[in-house]
Amino acid sequence: MKNRPKELILILDFGSQYTQLITRKVRELGVYSEIRRYDVAMVDIQELKPAGIILSGGPESVYAEDAPLPDPKIFELGCPILGICYGLQVIAYFHNGHVVESSKREYGPAQLRVDDATDLLKGVNDESSVWMSHADAVSVLPPNFSSIAHTCNSPFAAIANRARKWFCVQFHPEVSHSTQGQQMLSNFLYEICGCAGSWSAGSFVDNTVSDIRNQIGDKKVICALSGGVDSAVAAALVHRAVESQLTCIFVDNGLMRKNEAEAVATTFGDYFSNFVSVDAADIFLPRLKNVVNPEEKRKIIGRTFIQVFEEEAEKIAPVEYLVQGTLYPDVIESVSAQGPSVTIKTHHNVGGLPETMHLKLIEPLRELFKDEVREVGAALGISSQILGRHPFPGPGLAVRILGEISKERLDVLREVDAIFIAELRDNHWYDKIWQAFAVLLPVKSVGVMGDNRTYEDVVSLRAVTSTDGMTADWGRLPYDLLARTSNRIINEVRGVNRVVYDISSKPPSTIEWE
Ligand code: XMP
Repeated sequence: MKNRPKELILILDFGSQYTQLITRKVRELGVYSEIRRYDVAMVDIQELKPAGIILSGGPESVYAEDAPLPDPKIFELGCPILGICYGLQVIAYFHNGHVVESSKREYGPAQLRVDDATDLLKGVNDESSVWMSHADAVSVLPPNFSSIAHTCNSPFAAIANRARKWFCVQFHPEVSHSTQGQQMLSNFLYEICGCAGSWSAGSFVDNTVSDIRNQIGDKKVICALSGGVDSAVAAALVHRAVESQLTCIFVDNGLMRKNEAEAVATTFGDYFSNFVSVDAADIFLPRLKNVVNPEEKRKIIGRTFIQVFEEEAEKIAPVEYLVQGTLYPDVIESVSAQGPSVTIKTHHNVGGLPETMHLKLIEPLRELFKDEVREVGAALGISSQILGRHPFPGPGLAVRILGEISKERLDVLREVDAIFIAELRDNHWYDKIWQAFAVLLPVKSVGVMGDNRTYEDVVSLRAVTSTDGMTADWGRLPYDLLARTSNRIINEVRGVNRVVYDISSKPPSTIEWE
């Protein structure tokens, strides 16, 4: 499906941890942007017809043996270029500048002093804070470049070749520590590339809906609705395009949180013309009996899901299309992405379905980041309660009960989880946290309640902050909140006598315990 807007900024990725952030910042400023690997073929770049190109940072030195270098023909395209950090060095390297290993490495904040406040630095204060992260630096400017800003360690903190519309910065304007970085990026887009800035959630909805309508025609389409944000927004887009040709199927696997299946059925039953809720707990739970291995749990749940979903889909045959809520971070072939490495967890999404069912895929969110999905959802009228929900794994509570799963243990965990989430909501912490949940451990511990010794279950609470789930830090929840939550859990949930709080970051831990 092609819903790429006409005006596009191309980001070439040289391996910086901030490449995705640049892309998001550009979109936030109203211009659509996409990432490609640094070595993308020229024909592909020409096809994208970028209004401008941004060369990202990267960990290498331009003189390293395997240094990532772009096709130098990008400099003949005639479009404006912004080089950031390593991107600056790439431009200097190709144009007879001189890059050296700096005697003064700069990591962290620096004071930028503007020497020429036109175009890129228009409206930027004489002095502002910028974020540096580099070892190499330009020591001799390439011909036809001039310095437009400096720091005390970098005489060439920002340089320009105005005739060619090439601008380079040694620092990272995309990170929030660069206090006027947004202004500089905006100047690049609007002053230098001449963008019109028509990218918004609303324009995305309009374009995508008409593309989907053209693609689907009068055929039938199905969607596996999980209750999460991505599948809901993807389905809502398709629903706006073809309404009753879409059937949404929600499989209740018996591994959902307290009252969740009912809430999903009520909310989405009202929203979609055709909504089917399948109560399949009695199929899933017996198959998980005696299973303790996390990967085995995932495989059983994945296979069972496919079977139940296929049976439902049969009832509305013939179906031609399947909607999936795949997001941009899953599809970019970024140099800096962590995978394709070893499988740490086989994340069960509906990825296995198309091969068995021969359905054509509709992935309307393939080009969006998570926060953009929420904006699109809001533009489609989905409630903020749904859009703000924390991610929830496909295998549900199965990977939050360590060891064997049973109806009784599921019920214990549901109660604990509900108390934790309610406390987070009541104390205005829910929205500050990427994901929060409880884990039921396979150990018992001794406690004392009244005059009696107890020997009962231990639960761990986990709350993490993150921007994309790839890395995460443990949430610094207030002690009072933790104390009250622990108290309530031990008093209100039969069978639990100890609560612990998980203070591990990812890496080296993962967000889920299994
Ligand atoms: P981890 O535990 O790998 O989780 O740090 C990263 C994010 O992915 C979610 N997660 C899953 N999502 N199926 C899913 O759809 C899975 O099997 C699965 N395992 C983990 C996790 O909740 C977190 O948001």
